[in-house]
Amino acid sequence: MNEIIEKMLTRHAIRRFQQRQVDNEILDQILTAGLYAPSAGNNQYSRIVVCQDSEINEKLGRISRYMQFKGQDPKSIAHSISSEQPSIQDDFTIMNGFYNAPTVLTIFTRDGVYAHDDGAMIGENILLAAHFLGLGACYVGRTGEVFATEYGRTLWKAWGVPEDMVPVCNVLLGYIDGPFPHEKPRREGRIVRV
Ligand SMILES: Cc1cc2nc3c(=O)[nH]c(=O)nc-3n(C[C@H](O)[C@H](O)[C@H](O)COP(=O)(O)O)c2cc1C
Repeated sequence: MNEIIEKMLTRHAIRRFQQRQVDNEILDQILTAGLYAPSAGNNQYSRIVVCQDSEINEKLGRISRYMQFKGQDPKSIAHSISSEQPSIQDDFTIMNGFYNAPTVLTIFTRDGVYAHDDGAMIGENILLAAHFLGLGACYVGRTGEVFATEYGRTLWKAWGVPEDMVPVCNVLLGYIDGPFPHEKPRREGRIVRV
């Protein structure tokens, strides 16, 4: 198998991070990979906000975690995220949905039908680049809900991100703490040849 594809197959969502900050030169490479993601009509109308302020990241992470479970009884949804492959995502004592990652990216794209496609393309390039460079990364959704809160809207403005954009996702980055996650088998029958 091609060695880049082989490497892609070993990428995993990482949710335990060391507190040392990501090396700038490595971060620049990862962000550049994000900029080279495809965009609808080559619009390249996106912003990748890099936040290394632990206070802001923790506040946003707590809002994100709250949004994930709001209105649900924790006991009734235990392991609902990944029943076959339990993950620390299911640990309800974790209140910070950004898992104390030292660097948190927020990806904004042009509002419209392709907003999420454009954002997810950037996100995946970043996840892979981080993995290739030995870093841990995790994609986190529901960023739209987080940035619809008063705190989120305040940051959006303070960061100078245009109002006609959409917050699509967060990507958490940092050096991996603890063992690398085990391989997750792929479900059968997902390729349909016609
Ligand atoms: C749209 C989307 C939203 C996600 N949201 C979260 C999230 O809120 N919290 C989290 O810990 N992981 C989140 N993830 C990561 C997935 O849980 C993870 O990719 C999945 O469990 C498969 O594991 P793997 O990435 O290691 O293959 C999200 C992934 C995607 C694609």
